[in-house]
Amino acid sequence: MQTLPFLPLDLPFAAPLTKLAYQTFGQSKNVFGIAHREWSNRVRQIVDPPQQQKTSNIDDQMLAMLQARFDQLLETDWEDAQQGIYPTSLLFDNPWDEFFSFYPAVWLDAPKTWRRSNQRRYQEFSESIDTNGFPKYYLQNFHHQSDGYLSETSANLYDLQVELLFGGTADAMRRRVLAPIKQGLQRFNDILPQHTRMVDIACGTGRTLKMLRAAFPQASLHGTDLSPAYLRKANQLLSQNPGELPQLLQANAETLPYQDNQFHAVTSVFLFHELPAVVRQTIINECFRIAKPKGVFVLCDSVQVSDSPEMEAFMKNFPAVFHEPYYRHYSTDNLEERLQQAGFTDIHTEVHFMSKYWVAHKPA
Ligand SMILES: C[S@@+](CC[C@H](N)C(=O)[O-])C[C@H]1O[C@@H](n2cnc3c(N)ncnc32)[C@H](O)[C@@H]1O
Repeated sequence: MQTLPFLPLDLPFAAPLTKLAYQTFGQSKNVFGIAHREWSNRVRQIVDPPQQQKTSNIDDQMLAMLQARFDQLLETDWEDAQQGIYPTSLLFDNPWDEFFSFYPAVWLDAPKTWRRSNQRRYQEFSESIDTNGFPKYYLQNFHHQSDGYLSETSANLYDLQVELLFGGTADAMRRRVLAPIKQGLQRFNDILPQHTRMVDIACGTGRTLKMLRAAFPQASLHGTDLSPAYLRKANQLLSQNPGELPQLLQANAETLPYQDNQFHAVTSVFLFHELPAVVRQTIINECFRIAKPKGVFVLCDSVQVSDSPEMEAFMKNFPAVFHEPYYRHYSTDNLEERLQQAGFTDIHTEVHFMSKYWVAHKPA
């Protein structure tokens, strides 16, 4: 197991110290996220105050519940590393250079996003961007992002914006797909690590693929996304790592560019809340088609009303504050039923902090 260079785990005091360092790191990112949101709200009140946003109040009880879930996420993240599901070093993997380069750009872009939000302009793209060929549901300024998913600037700012929104927990939530995959792969007891094939659907800037590479160093990794700019960013991130480069393909997940029965594991993180209902089903069907018999599919997205009724206020506020046109339907959509309809069996769900996970298997 890898650890921080200055804390070799064979020393008796090293593991508690590493854990403390991880918890401090996690809590600091959360405090920074809260401070950023607070400052951003204050500046917005002066520059371009939000109009006609009806949001529910987040009371102290809900804040305490969120903090408890946050602490539990960090604990699970630490425990999974201790179990050897992934290297401990992954817990400290933070794109510092990106943070320092692009944090000022988040502030520079903010007034444009506030203006678009107030003027209800949700499908606006720079003239230089060719929007031909993309599905209509995709041509949106999700989260009021400038140029949606279709520019280099958007790809550069995306990870930072997600981390600020989730108080630095986005990676810890993504890492929760790794344990169910390790477990799912046990169904293939005759397979060599180098013959294991995995694909991340809507891989975005490649953060989940980076984690898959760390947890499965010899596996053949694939990633696909509709955004050329995000794939370029993913390629940049993944090529920093030693080992075989994951193969990236630009495609609509409604028609995945892979043959039937190809992958031992299929993942998808934070995609489904950005899809219309009918497209959710089509993409689940595609994931079923490309999975090998006995293969595992792990879908991660936002919590839903059925499993986290105590977070209903958050689920109502999210699409009201951020432009998320499909989120409301997603939050009550029965994805278990959709997975079954596609043919998946042996389905279970988990919830970690603000995310929900569906683990499903293709029958042998
Ligand atoms: C919220 S981001 C999630 C990205 C990444 N999985 C992550 O963990 O950050 C949604 C991603 O889904 C991609 N996407 C949306 N609709 C898609 C579709 N129909 N086919 C392929 N990719 C799609 C977007 O380009 C974007 O990269």
